Amino acid sequence: MKEKYILLKNNMKIPRLGQGTWFIGDNKAEEKDEIESIRLGIELGMTLIDTAEMYGSGAAERLIGKAIKGYDRSKLFIVSKVYPHNAGRRNIFNACENSLKRLDVDYLDLYLLHWRGSIPLRETVECMEELVAQGKIRSWGVSNFDSSDMKELWSVPNGSNCVINQVLYHLGSRGIEYDLVPWMKEHNVPVMAYSPLAQAGSLRRGLLENKVVREIAQNRGISPVQLLLAFVLSHDNMIAIPKSGNPKHTRENAEVMNIILTEEELKMLDKAFPAPNYKTPLDII
Ligand SMILES: NC(=O)c1ccc[n+]([C@@H]2O[C@H](COP(=O)([O-])OP(=O)(O)OC[C@H]3O[C@@H](n4cnc5c(N)ncnc54)[C@H](OP(=O)(O)O)[C@@H]3O)[C@@H](O)[C@H]2O)c1
Repeated sequence: MKEKYILLKNNMKIPRLGQGTWFIGDNKAEEKDEIESIRLGIELGMTLIDTAEMYGSGAAERLIGKAIKGYDRSKLFIVSKVYPHNAGRRNIFNACENSLKRLDVDYLDLYLLHWRGSIPLRETVECMEELVAQGKIRSWGVSNFDSSDMKELWSVPNGSNCVINQVLYHLGSRGIEYDLVPWMKEHNVPVMAYSPLAQAGSLRRGLLENKVVREIAQNRGISPVQLLLAFVLSHDNMIAIPKSGNPKHTRENAEVMNIILTEEELKMLDKAFPAPNYKTPLDII
């Protein structure tokens, strides 16, 4: 069994395996399954739920609000994200309040700047700190920040209070291992890996069909998608947030907490999909 939590530098415990919600809540016909998936995920320990004001223009947050009804709020770890154009003094307080209303909760556990825009980091950080002081959010972080963005963030007052950077990471996209992951380790900021399943393999052609991926998955009696998730969770400073609106898939994803890859298996995967040994542009979607 893997460690279930990571301790953030502000002493908050964050689950290592959560649930993504991009495209959830977009289609009324899928609502029942999506709510069931999220509730099953919570029952199975995936109590971290990642969302954003952007997803379905608030539809994902609204659906999560319905799905988490009846659960002890203190047992959940809810993450939302603010649009870059809302991440300044003018809009952020309203944007956060609107997310809270749609989710029907009093506070967020983590609030992320979705990606960098034109509002100065200094202003966003000031506002994030105020939201913490007001009790609207328990912590804040960023998303889609490369190492140069992180360094810049650390140079503004209170910038180093950022607890997470959420970035794209999966077996077929390992560019962050070159300098971002080491920088984040050094500064005690975990990576929250988005699209950890490479969107069921569609982000990299041939990933799920790869011979090594197939062979290891088959020997283990797991699916290639589960193997991708186990790979992300093999890094001790990483959190993964696979999305599923299908309860069967959610159950499979939760099972990955029990899958620990051997050194030999990791070596085979590393050989088939090596991390680049030079700087590459941050992968984003
Ligand atoms: N910060 C950012 O800029 C950013 C960008 C992208 C994503 N994210 C966050 O990260 C989350 C995850 O990323 P993602 O949604 O892009 O992709 P993902 O989690 O890598 O993949 C989701 C896809 O995989 C399928 N799937 C899930 N579990 C499966 C299983 N066990 N077997 C087979 N297929 C499975 C899902 O279909 P079903 O629903 O049918 O299971 C869905 O099509 C998002 O939902 C969002 O919360 C953040």
